[in-house]
Amino acid sequence: MNSLEKYGLLDDEILKNIPGIPSRSVISSKPVAVLECAQEIPCNPCELSCPQSAIKIGKPITNLPVIDSAKCTGCAACVAACPGLAIFVVNQNYSTTTGTVTLPYELLPLPEKGQKVVACNREGIPLSHVDVIRVQTSKSYDRTALVTLEIPKELVMDVRGFYLKDPKPVNLQYMKNEMEDSQNDVVICRCQEVTKRDIITAIEEGCRTVNEIKRATRVGMGLCQGRTCGRMVSRILAEAMGIGLAEVKPATFRVPVRIIPLATLGSSKKDD
Ligand code: SF4
Ligand code: SF4
Ligand code: FES
Repeated sequence: MNSLEKYGLLDDEILKNIPGIPSRSVISSKPVAVLECAQEIPCNPCELSCPQSAIKIGKPITNLPVIDSAKCTGCAACVAACPGLAIFVVNQNYSTTTGTVTLPYELLPLPEKGQKVVACNREGIPLSHVDVIRVQTSKSYDRTALVTLEIPKELVMDVRGFYLKDPKPVNLQYMKNEMEDSQNDVVICRCQEVTKRDIITAIEEGCRTVNEIKRATRVGMGLCQGRTCGRMVSRILAEAMGIGLAEVKPATFRVPVRIIPLATLGSSKKDD
């Protein structure tokens, strides 16, 4: 199983074989679209949106998109059109020391031009404090904004996201002790077989809320919907961040909040 199948992450090995990624020499010579599209799915808005016909999918529609970088002008129309948020425009020559990356952004609030943000890589690991130099919205982009960051030149093929603020700090000594603790294989979520080590690793990798840990590890997504493991996850997070349990926002609960017999929902008596 590769990193895409396991974690939804593109690693160097996968990136090397994607036909939508221009060569290093093209990337160093002009602004160009980078199509990080690695899954054969029936999808082609990128091909339809390019005014230069620089993207080719053809038939069948499940082909991976191929970029003809000679035709690409770096206009970013395809960045807004891609429903998978898989396209970026990079420019390695914005200044002598900096480049730019234009990213699709679908969260609110939007950053503003001139704002400092924290650029991160594909795994969400913070890389550098950088400036937002352009924010583009348009009716034709639907609700996808295009955000352009000025970044160190050497990071144009690494920066693929950003945080508006610094991710909250963790208690480093606690994290170090926990990572080294051999007892960490204790199972916290029995339904999904998630261990304490999995949770500590998720926090180490940037998760700072119970919901984020849930998405990263599937903790709390089992049959009991977190009723058994939820408080333990909150406690681990509180300890890792050096905050009180009351300050940890609980995970989103799905109904029913309490387990109830099906008969209560399915009774056919009229008065019920
Ligand atoms: S950046 Fe513009 S020209 Fe280049 S592939 Fe995308 S839509 Fe086409
Ligand atoms: S629109 Fe995006 S997800 Fe769809 S084929 Fe093109 S690059 Fe891939
Ligand atoms: S123990 Fe975690 S979802 Fe049930």
